[in-house]
Amino acid sequence: MTHSVNLYSDNVSGVSPEIMAALAEANRGQAQPYGADDFSQKARQALSELFEHEVWVFPVSTGTAANALATSVLTPPYGAIYASQTAHIDVAECGATELFTGGAKIVLIASERGRIEADALESTIAKAGKGIPSRVQPAGLSLTQATERGTLYSLDQLRRLIDIGKRSALKIHMDGARFANAVAALKVKPADLTWRLGVDVLSFGLTKNGAMGVDAIVCFRQDMAEEMRYRQRRAGQVYSKMRYAAAQIVAYVKDGLWLSNAERANAMGRRLGEGLARVPGVKLDEPVEINQVFLSMEEPIIADMEKAGIGLGRRGDGHVRLVAAWSSTEAEIDTAIAAARAAATKGKAAA
Ligand SMILES: Cc1ncc(COP(=O)(O)O)c(C=O)c1O
Repeated sequence: MTHSVNLYSDNVSGVSPEIMAALAEANRGQAQPYGADDFSQKARQALSELFEHEVWVFPVSTGTAANALATSVLTPPYGAIYASQTAHIDVAECGATELFTGGAKIVLIASERGRIEADALESTIAKAGKGIPSRVQPAGLSLTQATERGTLYSLDQLRRLIDIGKRSALKIHMDGARFANAVAALKVKPADLTWRLGVDVLSFGLTKNGAMGVDAIVCFRQDMAEEMRYRQRRAGQVYSKMRYAAAQIVAYVKDGLWLSNAERANAMGRRLGEGLARVPGVKLDEPVEINQVFLSMEEPIIADMEKAGIGLGRRGDGHVRLVAAWSSTEAEIDTAIAAARAAATKGKAAA
């Protein structure tokens, strides 16, 4: 299907020219395979500098692979991983975490606008039955920043959740498929959002934000990294020609491309949310904090937008998700808003 403007997902976007150029550059000559190349070393260096911490980097093909492998180092097979009711690892990864952990259980915690509620986490852990062999054992906490509802945890909210987790010796994973969007919106340092709070392992998203096809598992702990070496290989996630994955990471970090792409996507998300919220028959379901916009819309408006070639994600019962990307233009966003407005005006005239 061709769209005049496609806001179905940030993954409809292409590849940042800087990353394309880096791929062309990496394509010269030969390089050692499986991560023994210079680009892989540079990627590790670049991310260690970005995070102000020694990190161990495992490039993988998708965000799902990053999450499933990252969660697999949190827990034994009889463990519990606490996550929000909207967590991508639970609702959209077909049991990959359960498979890669060897059967650990994702325990869902009451959440509000995508964010885990601290009291609910605390009481669930308290009732978990630690030491009782008939119960899964508290092992991990997975937090998505920015959340699957396009919202953000504040640093204080994250700190509180992570402190609760650490008191019960949980290991902490952050699903950062849109980590760049979160950093851009909160205007904080990557370190402040991760290891300084106690995050042990991060799924660092690149693909949605300008890469061709690589996300990175970033380990802040050497013991987890040691284990990850084997798990990544076993999962078939060690790129044979690793230089191309690593070159994308290097280019993504270089000159702050990751951040400027996310700033642009967020700005376009804001523009979209503000414009659509002013259309009669359209209501924001969530505040717009990054590049994702969640809305309720009257069905004829959704249908007319689709007819006008606007790609959007239906979420059932008049709910939709629209996502701006690093490559979205003001003209595209305004076209989508105009299509909604035209549909609403038509509906009003017909009534
Ligand atoms: C929050 C979150 N985590 C993980 C993923 C998984 O990424 P992928 O589709 O590359 O597997 C997505 C993708 O939509 C996501 O939104």
